[in-house]
Amino acid sequence: MNIAVINGTKIKGITYHMKEMFLEHLRKDNQITEFYPNDIPPFCEGCKSCFLRGEEKCPHIVSKAPIWQAILNADLVVFAYPVYALRAPASIKSLLDHICVHWMVHRPDPRIFIKTAVIITNSVGAPNGSAQKDVKTSLTWMGMSNIFTCGAGMMGDIFWNDISDKHVKMLDTKTRKLARKVADIKPRQHKSLKVALLFFICKLMHKGVLKTEETPSLDNQHYIDNGWISAKK
Ligand SMILES: Cc1cc2nc3c(=O)[nH]c(=O)nc-3n(C[C@H](O)[C@H](O)[C@H](O)COP(=O)(O)O)c2cc1C
Repeated sequence: MNIAVINGTKIKGITYHMKEMFLEHLRKDNQITEFYPNDIPPFCEGCKSCFLRGEEKCPHIVSKAPIWQAILNADLVVFAYPVYALRAPASIKSLLDHICVHWMVHRPDPRIFIKTAVIITNSVGAPNGSAQKDVKTSLTWMGMSNIFTCGAGMMGDIFWNDISDKHVKMLDTKTRKLARKVADIKPRQHKSLKVALLFFICKLMHKGVLKTEETPSLDNQHYIDNGWISAKK
């Protein structure tokens, strides 16, 4: 399978090693493409060109396109990042801002509906749920139904070189379990109830907005082209 990995930090700390422990179980026979913060587009400039004029008009399309393409080519998408200020770090949020044009309220790509994602996080002690939710929310709104999370509170360990054996073992157990869950994943056949419901509401919304438009917006044209709504008003 193809695996796309988005790393939220470039340092080879606990996040890096956690992600490596996970990938160790999947390296054989799988193609892995990784991205680091230096590959991630700079902060969104707020021009709204992606929504209104087309994604190719984004001023950061050169750095954004390879990541989005790798996500579309992947069977499994991996996000690995530390918790910063109780949330996902800015590197990850910057990518999420750039790809939210593919949320179901805008122009979802049906190839996303069948994919699986894992979110790997760690913190010095805080719960990881809110930081994982930043990515999970985005992926759900893009129409992904299979999303697994794996978080670890390091209870004071902040440097990989000083980490206790007990904590290495804990990370090994968690990442091994996670790898087992996704090692043989197949493309998702049906949307989860939550994604199906959100998509249904989006279709209704687009249908309603289309009635008010002389020329369909890019979002509505995308819904029409995919046969999700009818061009007739
Ligand atoms: C800017 C910054 C903000 C952080 N915020 C939190 C936080 O809110 N809660 C927490 O438990 N740990 C926080 N941490 C600690 C990291 O999540 C933790 O040390 C993690 O293991 C770092 O992973 P790394 O070794 O891959 O960098 C923060 C670290 C940094 C650098």
